[in-house]
Amino acid sequence: MTKTLRYLKPYGGTVAAGLILKFIGSVAELFLPLLLKTVIDDVADNPALTHDQKLKYTFALGGAMLLCALLALLGNVFANRLTVKSSGNMTHDLRYDLFKKTCYLSSEQVDGVGLPSLISRLTSDSYYVNQMVARTLRLGVRAPILIAGGLILAFTQDVILACVLLACIPLVGVTVFIITKKSIPLFFSVQRKQDDMVRRTQESVTGVRVIKALSKSEYEAEKFDGVVKELAATEFKANRIMSLSNPAATLILNLGLVVLIAVGALCSDSAGTVLEFLQFFVMILNAMIALTKIFVVISRGSASAARIEKILGMDVSEKTEVCPEGDKNFKVQFKGVNFSYNGAEDDLKDIGFALRAGQTLGILGGTGSGKSTVISLLMRFYDADSGQIFVDGKDVKSYPLGELRKKFGVVFQNDFLMAASVRENIDFGRGLTDEDIERAVDDAQAREFIDGLEGGLGFDLAQKANNLSGGQKQRILIARALAGNPEILILDDSSSALDYATDAAFRKALSKNYSSSTKVIVAQRISSVKHADLIIVLDDGKIIGAGTHEELLKSCGEYSLIYSTQMGAERGR
Ligand SMILES: Nc1ncnc2c1ncn2[C@@H]1O[C@H](COP(=O)(O)OP(=O)(O)O)[C@@H](O)[C@H]1O
Ligand SMILES: [Mg+2]
Repeated sequence: MTKTLRYLKPYGGTVAAGLILKFIGSVAELFLPLLLKTVIDDVADNPALTHDQKLKYTFALGGAMLLCALLALLGNVFANRLTVKSSGNMTHDLRYDLFKKTCYLSSEQVDGVGLPSLISRLTSDSYYVNQMVARTLRLGVRAPILIAGGLILAFTQDVILACVLLACIPLVGVTVFIITKKSIPLFFSVQRKQDDMVRRTQESVTGVRVIKALSKSEYEAEKFDGVVKELAATEFKANRIMSLSNPAATLILNLGLVVLIAVGALCSDSAGTVLEFLQFFVMILNAMIALTKIFVVISRGSASAARIEKILGMDVSEKTEVCPEGDKNFKVQFKGVNFSYNGAEDDLKDIGFALRAGQTLGILGGTGSGKSTVISLLMRFYDADSGQIFVDGKDVKSYPLGELRKKFGVVFQNDFLMAASVRENIDFGRGLTDEDIERAVDDAQAREFIDGLEGGLGFDLAQKANNLSGGQKQRILIARALAGNPEILILDDSSSALDYATDAAFRKALSKNYSSSTKVIVAQRISSVKHADLIIVLDDGKIIGAGTHEELLKSCGEYSLIYSTQMGAERGR
């Protein structure tokens, strides 16, 4: 937790000012019972004083009480304001760093933690840390001062009554402690259930179209309802136990008051002292209840802090290794590459191929056959378990990541567009020239439709570009990949939403204007990769056929089968 608390350091001044104000307010509060007792015993009940004197002293002491109460109130209010400020600022910094770190995590690290868990660390966990700091600063000084100060003052006033008070404190302490201790594991399970809920919300929101298309809204709603109900039940259970603590403490408080009055009646002849003790009693027990609340927020907050620190502590430094060099004649080369996401079964087995600069590689294969994984390894989102991957004759592991990734222009499968203008989406913060952008728009066959949009390149896309068709989105994504004039162009299933004529025109533009770019094209349609210099057919992570279109027709049964099916479909159109 120390790492999280260090985030308070820059706000040390505000924290200190808040604590000082709290201290002043709490001490002022402690004087109230003393003043009350003086009014009753030394003024009202004092036969030596005249009526006028009594009136004068009562007003003076009443004024002092008012002053103390005001001081306590103002001290608390301003201290709380400062507390909110420092804990708020601290949470902001913590969230900022956490978000930044999250952006730098490798794909493996993200897979390891899980996206929903990352989201809840950024949202609810950082909120719990905020609550912990805010509450502790608010009550952490006040409660101990009231308890300790109250007890000390009580002993100076009346030892017997102070002993009654002292006897009640452990009783309340133990009761509240037992209750709180029971509820803490339940609060942890509330946190885990929240992770579940975030995951489910995320799945449903991202998959909302599929869910609607398959008429699964009812089904999804029921599943969501289940998660929410579980969360509510756990929260209910935790809070039900916690809600016992106040009434239990109040019960002990009231019983204690009865004993106090009885003992007071027997042993003390001063009404003022009894009244004074009643105030001490209420003050001290409320402070104890506040302390147990701190106990809860601290245990919950420290669990959250640990979850956040786990991410903050992750090593995101680049691991470049010195590796044996490959053949400089090839732009891209895979040599006996094996890879598994989960370390159990291989997702890629013995993948090998080589491409010269300017050549085109086509990758075909069913869903889940490993096509996107080949690309992820080439761009080093994951490291191969064995074998080597070379770009320009250098192992991808030996490149600084920025240098490696600069070579690529890529359209991922299910790539995303931001809610920004078309131009911003194509430029993507790279500061490209208008010339580059216009060329990319032409080559991506996006000219006609972009010119038709209101404002052309300045047209604003809705969130997830929901105001464009699938084909239009793909063309903007392709333009983004082309605009940087990449050494290696990667298109992962990115022409699937283009009609045949557009796809053909796009391929023509590719071979004409990007002859020096090396291209890796993942496609469903053989027509998209037919003219590639090399086509590999993947099945279950293995290459089951490799060669040109003509070679594959002869050598690979699956390939010719797909081809004849697709040709048949095309002829039938
Ligand atoms: N991030 C991931 N974590 C675990 N398994 C994954 C991950 N991404 C893909 N896989 C698995 O790896 C295999 C290959 O996936 P992928 O390369 O995406 O296939 P394709 O692109 O050919 O459809 C599939 O079995 C898939 O379930
Ligand atoms: Mg894929």
